[in-house]
Amino acid sequence: MDQGARMRSLLTAIVPVIDYSRAREETTKLKGQVDAFELRLDYLDKLDTNSISDLMSHINKPLILTVRSQKHGGVFAHSEQQRLRCIEQCMRLEPSFIDVESDVTDNFIANLHTISPKTKIIRSVHHFLDTPENLDDLLQSMLHPSVSIYKVITTAKHSLDALRMLSWVQLKSRHHQIIGHCMGEAGYPSRIAGACCGNYFTYAALSNKVRVLDHTISVHDFNTIYHIREKNKATKLYALIGDPIDRSQGHLFHNNYFHQQKINALYFKLKITAAQLATLFDYVQSLPFAGLSVTMPLKQQILNQLVNQDAMNAVNTLTITEKRIIANNTDGLGALDAIEETMKVANKHLLVIGAGGAACAIIDEAIQRGAHLCIVNRSADKAQKLAQHYKVQCLSFDEPPHQHVDIVVNTLPDKAYQNERLVTWLSGLLQTLPLVLDINYNQKHSLLQHSIQNYRCTTIAGEKMFIKQAFAQLKLWGLDKN
Ligand SMILES: NC(=O)c1ccc[n+]([C@@H]2O[C@H](COP(=O)([O-])OP(=O)(O)OC[C@H]3O[C@@H](n4cnc5c(N)ncnc54)[C@H](OP(=O)(O)O)[C@@H]3O)[C@@H](O)[C@H]2O)c1
Repeated sequence: MDQGARMRSLLTAIVPVIDYSRAREETTKLKGQVDAFELRLDYLDKLDTNSISDLMSHINKPLILTVRSQKHGGVFAHSEQQRLRCIEQCMRLEPSFIDVESDVTDNFIANLHTISPKTKIIRSVHHFLDTPENLDDLLQSMLHPSVSIYKVITTAKHSLDALRMLSWVQLKSRHHQIIGHCMGEAGYPSRIAGACCGNYFTYAALSNKVRVLDHTISVHDFNTIYHIREKNKATKLYALIGDPIDRSQGHLFHNNYFHQQKINALYFKLKITAAQLATLFDYVQSLPFAGLSVTMPLKQQILNQLVNQDAMNAVNTLTITEKRIIANNTDGLGALDAIEETMKVANKHLLVIGAGGAACAIIDEAIQRGAHLCIVNRSADKAQKLAQHYKVQCLSFDEPPHQHVDIVVNTLPDKAYQNERLVTWLSGLLQTLPLVLDINYNQKHSLLQHSIQNYRCTTIAGEKMFIKQAFAQLKLWGLDKN
């Protein structure tokens, strides 16, 4: 194993060995894309050491041999005694690593070590219900002089569990060779960013179709989305926080940019609610975070967590330095740059539909660029408050619109256009064929697009705004190399 590889987490594909020839095919396909394989031998009906030995020579890469018990999430169908005998047989094949559960006896481990002293023993524990408060207790109960690597796998109930695991791995990896991540959908951040916090192995599924466990990221996605083999403990972390975040494409854009520009950084999604913000900030400071993108519904709620941000109405970017967290908003710049590629806004009449975080930023930027603004929103009080603050006009969905509008910016979610009254109200404005920016993504098949298609208005896609605001974020994070 080369030194460079040792300094980073080893990308390891988990191979459920159902039959030997299939495992041979699967490992051959992925050989150049991973650093190691874990052969899950509990999937075999019968363990045949000659066939395993042949498979090992064929793979010719660092290998973990595992015969996982059902209690720890495996599928071994015979008695515990038989399982332990299988583990001993595997050890005689002198693999690079062997994985045994936390509850095998200390004597068994000591004996295993004598069979093949050069094999590194991984002792692992799996928690399927939650992530226990005291992870140190789990580690403490596994310590053994013959064990080289400790593996602690728990279940995340929310993203904060995953961050707690990352923080713990970061701390423990100073004194032990450690693997820690959380199972479950909320555990994704720990599986992805673990490579930057000291995880010895980063486990991957063979493909998006062949997974031993749900929510294991595939080798393909680790390599093509996260470029995980380029990451190490010096990697800076960036994340999108908010809820919902499923449809966001930010991780694709930012990780691709980091890869292209050879920037040692990683971007992932963190589902966070307003109630979790205070705890999030603790982890943000202890982990190597350098920036956050903020999305709904946190753009305004996050202001309560920040000091000296009185002048801001909404935040979509946080830059994290050792001394402080700096808040900015790039939504306004992104939206206005996207519009001004088609039409300059100075002295033009611009209507913003919505009064949330994105709307605030867009109104602010549009006023600075000399546009005449009006605002309309479902909760009229919010629109009125904004209109008073910016000294601009406020419309109501209860009255038919009667003014001329050059540009319409929609910031409502597309589901809002299921409301016939809203569609009818909007059509009153479209006779003059204004330019329409729908800040949502995938507008091709949107309800709004469907409602306005007969008016042949020029429309600008939310993706255009997204790219422009994302580049502005990179600039704030000091990563824009253009
Ligand atoms: N393209 C980009 O780069 C980009 C950037 C930022 C945001 N976005 C997208 O823009 C959207 C808005 O983001 P945001 O941060 O401004 O969200 P937000 O702060 O939660 O504001 C949402 C706005 O939509 C209104 N709304 C929500 N559901 C509605 C419904 N069923 N009917 C009528 N009005 C409804 C809200 O009205 P009330 O005040 O009455 O609740 C509010 O004005 C999101 O979909 C986000 O993904 C895109």
